[in-house]
Parts: sequence; structure tokens; C-alpha cells
Amino acid sequence: QGDPRLQTISDAIRVIPHFPKTGIMFQDITTLLLDPVAFKHVVDIFVDRYKHMNISLVAGVEARGFIFGPPIALAIGAKFVPLRKPGKLPGRVISEDYELEYGNDRLEMSMEAVKTHERALVIDDLVATGGTLSASINLLGAEVVECACVVGLPKFKGECRLKGKPLYVLVEPS
Ligand code: PRP
Repeated sequence: QGDPRLQTISDAIRVIPHFPKTGIMFQDITTLLLDPVAFKHVVDIFVDRYKHMNISLVAGVEARGFIFGPPIALAIGAKFVPLRKPGKLPGRVISEDYELEYGNDRLEMSMEAVKTHERALVIDDLVATGGTLSASINLLGAEVVECACVVGLPKFKGECRLKGKPLYVLVEPS
């Protein structure tokens, strides 16, 4: 793609084979967080892309979307909305169930978080099946302008679409 920052980002992500279970090549972004140059490259690339897109809301998916979402939200002048695992949010929530490879999971969002006519960006560290981001899109509805992840399988790398919404991914697993 030509941007040398992408190689720096990719190099900073540690791969742990067979974690948390056999056969999974875990993409460990905690090593990227230990490298402030690489971490800043991630934030800078997303901020440059989204700062002039009139985004009023950045939603981060628990847990690692809580790491990348807030610095992007602050830099573009948007609010941050946590999309949480079940039972964590007080007050009235809207929920979205989704399927995992084995079993089900649910994301919840505060009902007060989104006002009408907002323009939302969804941030997570990684997209694998796309199930988590699809559930996030369902929660936020028409407000979603784009979803963005640091790492995605080759089919998601660069710019593609998920549930009709654009998805932007920086690097593929190594
Ligand atoms: C990981 C990752 C994404 C999701 C992607 O989260 O951080 O949120 O899986 O997978 P998908 O595209 O197949 O839906 P995980 O479920 O491990 O939760 P955690 O961040 O709370 O550990």
C-alpha cells in the first residue's frame, strides 16, 4: 500500500500460536501498545481519515476497542460510546445477540448514547468473522459511517464492506 507506517504497526503486533486455544494464532496488540511510535501511527492514520467526516460518535467494542477508540474520539472531537458485554451497563440498554464459532454473545449500548442524526464510527482491534462488528452495526443502525480495525483477515484488508457499511482495516495477521 506504500505507507511505511503500516509495516511498523504490523511488526509491533506479537503473534502467539495456540492462544487462547489450540489452532488460534492470537494477534497480541499489547506489544503494539508498548511501542508508542507504532501506537501513535495507528491513531494518526485513523484520525487523518476521519477528522473531516463529520463524525460525532466513536463506538468502541469491549475490550480492545476501548483502547483504540478514545484517543481517536478525542482527536476528532467526537463522543465515545462503549459497546459492552452483557450486564455491565447501568440504566436502560439496547442489546444485540450474535453468534460465535461456539455459542453466542451479546453486546449492549446505553439507550441515551445515540441522538438522532449522529454520524458514528465503530472501532475494534480486530475483525475475524465480522460477527462482532455486524452486531455493532445492528446496535447503532443507520448512524454508522464506517467501521475500522487495526487487524483483519486478508478478505477484509484495506477498504471493503460489512452489512452494507464500509470497513477499513490497516494490516492483516502475520
Ligand atoms: C475479539 C476481538 C474482536 C472480536 C473479533 O474479541 O477483539 O472484538 O474478537 O471477532 P469476530 O470478527 O469473529 O467477531 P474477544 O471476543 O476476544 O473479546 P475481548 O476483546 O473482550 O477479549
